[in-house]
Amino acid sequence: MSDNKPDSVTDSRSGGENARRILRRDPNPHLFRPIRFRSVEARNKIMLSPMCQYSGQDGLSNDWHFVHLGARAAGGAGWVFTEAVHIEPRGRITPHCLGLWNNEQRDRLARIAEFVAAQGAVPGIQLGHAGRKASVGRPWEGSRPLQVNEGGWNNLISASALPYASQWHVPEAMSTGQIAESQAALKASTRRAREAGFKALELHGAHGYLIHQFLSPLSNLREDAYGGIFENRIRFLLESIAVVREEWPDDLPLFLRLSCTDWVDGGWSLEDTVQLAILLKSQGDVDLIDCSSGGNDPRQQIPIHPGYQIPLAQEVRAKAEIATGAVGLIHSPDLAEAVIANGQADLVILGRALLSDPAWPLRAAASLKAENAEWPKQYERSNIF
Ligand SMILES: Cc1cc2nc3c(=O)[nH]c(=O)nc-3n(C[C@H](O)[C@H](O)[C@H](O)COP(=O)(O)O)c2cc1C
Repeated sequence: MSDNKPDSVTDSRSGGENARRILRRDPNPHLFRPIRFRSVEARNKIMLSPMCQYSGQDGLSNDWHFVHLGARAAGGAGWVFTEAVHIEPRGRITPHCLGLWNNEQRDRLARIAEFVAAQGAVPGIQLGHAGRKASVGRPWEGSRPLQVNEGGWNNLISASALPYASQWHVPEAMSTGQIAESQAALKASTRRAREAGFKALELHGAHGYLIHQFLSPLSNLREDAYGGIFENRIRFLLESIAVVREEWPDDLPLFLRLSCTDWVDGGWSLEDTVQLAILLKSQGDVDLIDCSSGGNDPRQQIPIHPGYQIPLAQEVRAKAEIATGAVGLIHSPDLAEAVIANGQADLVILGRALLSDPAWPLRAAASLKAENAEWPKQYERSNIF
């Protein structure tokens, strides 16, 4: 965790209470001080949130993804994460989502990772599986479940044979054999992510996708070792983290995105997240929890307002003493700076702010008077900033 002292760089590898190392004085605003996880140091604490572009074919990224991610790297973000990249074809959200189940997909992503790194950002990848929320149309096509004759698929899997909502696909409850197959696919995708040159990996355990489907008692009605009590519902996640760590090097950070609450009575709660985070902290495989929420149940009531999920990151950080990322309607540089300065989170994770302005970090640097953020030299001669 960062210690928010004016002259520190976090070293989370040696992590936690006793491991804060003061490496150099830094007069810059907190948001723009470098941060280190394991061997990876980023130039600032701004992360591009994973955002599906629904623009691939056969799980392959293309020029759109290259430009989208490359522009945010050139725009000064410290961490540039891909959208959710799926570990098997039926785990895609839409037919146009990305995958990492073959080497051609790996090689296309490698070009992006290399360019992102060349712009001074840490290239990160989010790995996921949509489970019962797979096989839907793109947002601009209505995000509704797709049938096979519309390009969808109907062999969905989940913790239990429960659809997300009425009219959605009814998944098959995964057998223990299917669980093992899924973990093998995750392991192979992790290996490809490493081979593609990514330096940070985020496991997608949020938004009602497969891992979240196991975590939440609303979507997990299993009666075996993967269902019922808390310790059983987190088993699929813990096994996923373990297989990722078999392929993901010790010196590279692993982030975990969680929906810290289902926002539904009787669902996964912030208390559950804290309990899980304390366990993850003790195990030492996960370096940061990216604190999102919701997505697993249409009955959710989310109190949306600027920075609405910051208290989740703050509570997890305070109670589990693990690094967190704050995400959700953070648009102003002052709010982003305050999140870090007040010790509410270690990273500020931006989605739509970076969609509307790829150079948000460089503009924020100007408004916060950071001295360590530079426009790409190709743009330096412009005086319009
Ligand atoms: C177009 C779009 C695509 C998204 N795709 C993903 C995704 O692939 N993985 C994920 O974890 N969250 C995804 N999200 C959620 C964002 O990462 C982020 O958590 C959310 O937009 C809230 O942050 P914001 O208010 O800064 O946009 C997506 C959001 C948007 C707007």
